[in-house]
Amino acid sequence: NNMFEDKIGAEHGYTKEDVDALQEKVTKGHQAIKEAKEAGELGFMELPETHKEIAKEIKEFAEANREKYDNFVVLGIGGSALGNIAVQTALNDPYYNLKKEARNGCPRLFVPDNVDPTRLKSLLDELDLEKTMFNVISKSGTTAETMSQFLTAQAAVVEDLGEDAVSDHFIATTSKDSGKLIKIAKEEAIKTFYIPDNVGGRFSVLTPVGLVSSAFVGVDIEELLAGAEYMAQVCDTDDLWANPAYLNAVLQYLADQDGKPMSVMMPYNHALKDVADWYRQLWAESLGKEVDREGNVVNVGPTPIKALGATDQHSQAQLYMEGPYDKVVTFLEVENFKEELEIGSGYEDIEGVSYLGNHTFNKLITTEKKATELALTKQNRLNCTVIFPEVNAFTLGQFFYLFELQTAMSGELYNINAFNQPGVELGKKYAYGVLGREGFAEMKEEFDSRPAK
Ligand code: PA5
Repeated sequence: NNMFEDKIGAEHGYTKEDVDALQEKVTKGHQAIKEAKEAGELGFMELPETHKEIAKEIKEFAEANREKYDNFVVLGIGGSALGNIAVQTALNDPYYNLKKEARNGCPRLFVPDNVDPTRLKSLLDELDLEKTMFNVISKSGTTAETMSQFLTAQAAVVEDLGEDAVSDHFIATTSKDSGKLIKIAKEEAIKTFYIPDNVGGRFSVLTPVGLVSSAFVGVDIEELLAGAEYMAQVCDTDDLWANPAYLNAVLQYLADQDGKPMSVMMPYNHALKDVADWYRQLWAESLGKEVDREGNVVNVGPTPIKALGATDQHSQAQLYMEGPYDKVVTFLEVENFKEELEIGSGYEDIEGVSYLGNHTFNKLITTEKKATELALTKQNRLNCTVIFPEVNAFTLGQFFYLFELQTAMSGELYNINAFNQPGVELGKKYAYGVLGREGFAEMKEEFDSRPAK
């Protein structure tokens, strides 16, 4: 952890006393988190326990059905998509969709996570619908992007395969009692998995939201939950020096208060690239808030940024090294890659090229990470490293839980509600108005009378 004064210099680093000064706040926050958990408000903390049985059911369902399909398509957005992508990129072959032998009889996975017409049309053109399962995921059951994807896919299935085929080609993952999707699922007799009401979208990767697609593509979902359970035990203390989630929440908070609100997550392992994207949403939507819990306007929130080592050494590193002192870089380092690959050798007489030949890519990428870390530290730039012994379902489950709990504690430190997202509502309402949704006519009027460019 290169965020302390002895590593980074007094002007930018923090002392043990700076951290200790927040222990009382952390203890109160820990108490509040515990009480909220006991009151059933923080469902993400219950999942490792409550979803053991559900994971079994999902696993059995996936094992019984996955060989019937060549394609598994997740229709969802935000918290209903990013966890699926993160798990797939982290745990499966990098070219899983292209390589039949890497799939081991499992279907290809597609998560469009958008309503871009070109991308969707291209995907639908590619799919043999007879061999495709769609999982439509929406907790609210009303999200415009997801429901329009569903309407289109459903119409395509009906046109190609007939009305009766819908229940064989769709799964619905949604709230048990509210929203429109559950109504449709019941009408169509679609297999349904439920998202607990007390788990918000961005905290839902370890519910059926993330588990169903993961099971279909062969991920050991019970290990994901076991990893989360292990991390829950590690973090079951208010002593911030013993609790990695709380310590990191405190350090990030100190940095933000100290004019360093840019929080970069930079894995040096391509498999973790989309985990950084998952974190970006978790951190942004949870902590970017206008008002605190008492309703005072505070406009808080660090800005999460995703970067990728070594790729972004050739894009972002210059800024991180010499630009404003406004960032904390969280490196994700992996000790053991799934493969070891030697760099080709040759051109012994050409200095500047030949030295590479004696090494592996593993050594190259790890050395580049350590070199960037040292260079940043020498430039007095805050950074820390999360080390994965290897990327597997267990360590990934740990990682998800660690950062979810860190986010909950950060909400306590900022004294904001980390579990709502009122800021995204206004834009949605204008869109509803323009698209003619009942009850939003006023929003259309306001939209139409917006100032000309
Ligand atoms: O974290 C969140 O709550 C959001 O990002 C939601 O996941 C996203 O808006 C999709 O919502 P829904 O699952 O209701 O369609």
